[in-house]
Amino acid sequence: MKLSQSGKESGWISYSADVWNEKRPLSMKGDLPFWQYCAEKYGDPILDLCCGNGRIAIPLAELGYEVVGVDINPDFIALAQRQTREMAQGGRELKVTFKIQDIVSLKLGRTFQLAIMPDWSFQVLLTQEDQLSFLRRLRKHLVLAGAFAFNLFIPFYRQRGLIEKHGGYQWPPDPSYHSGASRSYDAVSQIETLVESNVHPVKLRHTNLSELKQLFRLTGFEIAELYGDVDRRPFTGNRDNDYTIIARRKWAWPWRTITAWRLTSFAQTDLQLCQSGKNRRSLVQ
Ligand SMILES: C[S@@+](CC[C@H](N)C(=O)[O-])C[C@H]1O[C@@H](n2cnc3c(N)ncnc32)[C@H](O)[C@@H]1O
Repeated sequence: MKLSQSGKESGWISYSADVWNEKRPLSMKGDLPFWQYCAEKYGDPILDLCCGNGRIAIPLAELGYEVVGVDINPDFIALAQRQTREMAQGGRELKVTFKIQDIVSLKLGRTFQLAIMPDWSFQVLLTQEDQLSFLRRLRKHLVLAGAFAFNLFIPFYRQRGLIEKHGGYQWPPDPSYHSGASRSYDAVSQIETLVESNVHPVKLRHTNLSELKQLFRLTGFEIAELYGDVDRRPFTGNRDNDYTIIARRKWAWPWRTITAWRLTSFAQTDLQLCQSGKNRRSLVQ
């Protein structure tokens, strides 16, 4: 697999599957109703980007949706496949498959009604170049007006929380969460690094809403639904919220094809005019 800069530098490829499975067990379903809402509204097949151990892909498949999960970490994918196999052995055959890929160069050779990216996974893309490449690849994998649902941290409160530690805005919200972890933030690269004692450090890039809108403008998406969290509360930018977004693939005129067609037809007309000119000349002679 050819790795993008984010794939190489984010640290996720080396993250221990056992540790991750403890943090995000299949039983952790607090955000599932939101992804289920998206599935009900936008339909399947569903592409679960950065699917981890299949925490969301598997329950969606249990609800009857066809799901393809993609992740860069081979151990996470092996775990997701094992959990699915065990369900099939227990008589629960699901329409879910898992693939190891770097989403920056996503290539599945098919399209989806809906792509989801739970658990702030868009932030594993560490540069604007990788974000743009990913969105362009994603666009090719969505049907016309297909939807892309995901969530992001609100950078400002996150950074302030990191700077002030637990004063004012408290991060982490639950002090027992991520105990033993340290976080640092680099304002130039907009990258937060999370260092935990028993796993490889991981990096997450912060993107604010206007930057995101610009990325969408450049890649042919537009925001269709914007919420303050996966519980679909109104987006106010308040400190305890994140951005939860459903974007749609914008319909675009196929300008390149139209231009090529116009150039060819102009060239043909020119050729015909030249030929008729030549004919006229030959008649005059
Ligand atoms: C925050 S975890 C979320 C996991 C899962 N979506 C969930 O909700 O439990 C981010 C996931 O992104 C994956 N990932 C990181 N960089 C990636 C890349 N470039 N391509 C594909 N997956 C990537 C990681 O391996 C990890 O599983």
